[in-house]
Amino acid sequence: MSTEVFDRVKQLIEEIRSAKPSNKEELEAFRLRFLGTKNVIKPLMGEIRLIANELKKDYGQLVNEAKEVAETVFQSVKELVEQAEAEAAVQHLDLTAPGEPMPLGSRHPITLTMNRIVDIFSRIGFTVAEEREIEDDWHNFTAMNTPEDHPARDMQDTYYLKDSTEMLLRTHTSSVQARVMTHQKPPIRIIAPGRVYRNETISARSHCQFHQVEGLYIDEGVSFADLKQTLLYFAKEMYGADTRIRLRPSFFPFTEPSAEMDVSCFLCGGSGCRICKQTGWVEILGCGMVDPAVLENCGIDSSRYTGFAFGMGIERQAMLLHQINDIRLFFENDVRFLNQFKSAF
Ligand code: PHE
Repeated sequence: MSTEVFDRVKQLIEEIRSAKPSNKEELEAFRLRFLGTKNVIKPLMGEIRLIANELKKDYGQLVNEAKEVAETVFQSVKELVEQAEAEAAVQHLDLTAPGEPMPLGSRHPITLTMNRIVDIFSRIGFTVAEEREIEDDWHNFTAMNTPEDHPARDMQDTYYLKDSTEMLLRTHTSSVQARVMTHQKPPIRIIAPGRVYRNETISARSHCQFHQVEGLYIDEGVSFADLKQTLLYFAKEMYGADTRIRLRPSFFPFTEPSAEMDVSCFLCGGSGCRICKQTGWVEILGCGMVDPAVLENCGIDSSRYTGFAFGMGIERQAMLLHQINDIRLFFENDVRFLNQFKSAF
């Protein structure tokens, strides 16, 4: 009886050794038969109970050998099959096949809008000035004629650096005006795009970080008419040739006189719609003639030079242009949102 069982195992080992699976399917059949959960070697181990005690050890070893041989054959054939597959793939390489398109990323809508604004002003001689986001109180407020007790300085609105009353995250790109004017002599004609920070509750309409573009033009004889003409040119380039502008008196500490500029609604043309809240106009920026006190603070002779400045929120322009109703979308970076701006401009 014992020898019969021994012989069966030996026969099986022979079978395993001579099996020559030559492709994926045969290899899988081999694996199922000899190595799978219901393999044929397992039950042989159970038959050890039929073996005489003194032969049990030999029998166990023989069954293990069957397992090992199966494993070795499987591994070596697997390698061969994989190699053959790889070679076949190379041989079937069709060099004339058209290339597969590579998924391309896209620029962020804020970058696109910023580039567009910068491009419009570059065409009339403005050059880009970029400055730090961590500013000191002087450049952000004092130089910009914003007095100590101005509400904008309040801890509620401004992020000061930890334990500092001096260093802060700039609350507007107007700080770049002070940076440039203290280092450059007129004529100055710059456009300053960048990120700004305000301690505001995050909602669909406002965020604690956003982007602005600042414009500054200082020279002899710069007038309000120049400001108006420059902004009219911008409005037409940005929102369409038919765009009209209107300036409403306003207040900023660093400009005098100050104004807010509206453009005729580019969606309804002025007849009234959801975007312009039925008024026909949408507010897009703040502007004014640089206050002589600001020029003097920065070492520019206000009896010789005059200038204008303007500042606008980039998110706001992008939201208007693309009818986006939630500013938070710009910061979430959901690709389903971002992908829509692939060919915006
Ligand atoms: N700094 C102003 C703001 O953040 C915008 C502005 C810039 C107004 C330049 C006038 C001149 O609201």
